[in-house]
Amino acid sequence: MLLNAEDFRREARRLLPRFVFDYVDGAADDGCCLRRNARDLDAVTLTPRVLRDTSRIDTAVEVFGTKWSSPYGIAPTGLNGLVRPRGDVMLARAAARAGIPFALSTASNMRLEDVRAAAPESIQWMQLYVMHKEMAARIVQRAQRAGYQALVLTVDVPVSGNRELDVRNGFRVPFKPTAKLGWDLVTHPRWSMRAAISGPPDFANLVADGEDGGSASMQAALLARAMDRTLVWETLAWLREFWRGPLLLKGLLHADDARLAIDHGVDGLIVSNHGGRQLDAAPSAISALPSVVAAVAGRVPVFMDSGVRRGTHVAKAISLGATAVLLGRPLLYGLAARGEAGVDAVLKLFADEFMRTMALLGASSIADLRGDSLACEGGPTDAGVASRVST
Ligand code: FNR
Repeated sequence: MLLNAEDFRREARRLLPRFVFDYVDGAADDGCCLRRNARDLDAVTLTPRVLRDTSRIDTAVEVFGTKWSSPYGIAPTGLNGLVRPRGDVMLARAAARAGIPFALSTASNMRLEDVRAAAPESIQWMQLYVMHKEMAARIVQRAQRAGYQALVLTVDVPVSGNRELDVRNGFRVPFKPTAKLGWDLVTHPRWSMRAAISGPPDFANLVADGEDGGSASMQAALLARAMDRTLVWETLAWLREFWRGPLLLKGLLHADDARLAIDHGVDGLIVSNHGGRQLDAAPSAISALPSVVAAVAGRVPVFMDSGVRRGTHVAKAISLGATAVLLGRPLLYGLAARGEAGVDAVLKLFADEFMRTMALLGASSIADLRGDSLACEGGPTDAGVASRVST
């Protein structure tokens, strides 16, 4: 039975080749940050209020003038096509059906225009990695033309995190067959059959308009190129020349960076440690959230991702000041387990769990979750954990 995100994770582990599952599920170094995300989210408690009318619960939030049916969206993840061919479109369509946003990664396996066209009525954000300024400018201009509603600049990847599982598995791009990988493929025939039919996933956005897909090695060279590490706060003004909509920064954990972001005209922040995939020493996102929310003081929306696995986790982030959260791996587990229907199923789990949590808390609107009466007790707001929050 697939009753929760962890059940979908186990099903994904069963169905995916080891190197794919580890790529999705894995984290940096020793996995400390990954575990911290889970531990700190679990440690927060929410105190329910009783004898309140919850016969009608409204879970909607408004973000940048657009209504989301629930206070969560789908985080940008690269290489979705490795989990399922056309995974990017499957995630985008499932998000559209659920009335929530989908963020497309720069490292997607489908062209951003095609993903937009597959769910034209939906809320779609474009995530940007700047490996090369000229290429980034081109992607941003294409996203603007295609109708993406917000741009998310990811700022926690000056270099890629140390993912030892990928190294051990011999997983790299472009894919180089080894005996170990061969055995992995043979023992996962359903995945291998699909992959054989669709061919290896391309990094479809990294190629200029009008060019064909380019060779796998060319694309890999582009992607593997270290990020542009000359990127600084002032670079945001350069980005604004190409992008007219809301600009968000993803991967902030420090309150001073939140203040700087606002000083530089950023429209929204995503408190995130990349799901524990970058700096293993980073604090959990939920423990960093309160200090960022305090620094922002309501001037822009603050989102959070990293470790959200339950409807209760969504409620915890909101009660600590997040406007909404983003979900990463749980949807990839759904995609791996059952394709597009699996993404729908995981989103339904979150919707059901979140609705039940609201009712149990005596909250009939998102505003109720933010009320003082539901202030968290324990967890990251406790002195012990707060002392870990860097300010
Ligand atoms: C990511 N993430 C990510 N972030 C980003 O800005 N651009 C990207 O291309 C990717 N790629 C990516 C691939 C995979 C397989 C994962 C799991 C994650 C990070 C992602 O947006 C988000 O921050 C985390 O996934 C949130 O943590 P949870 O929900 O996975 O714990």
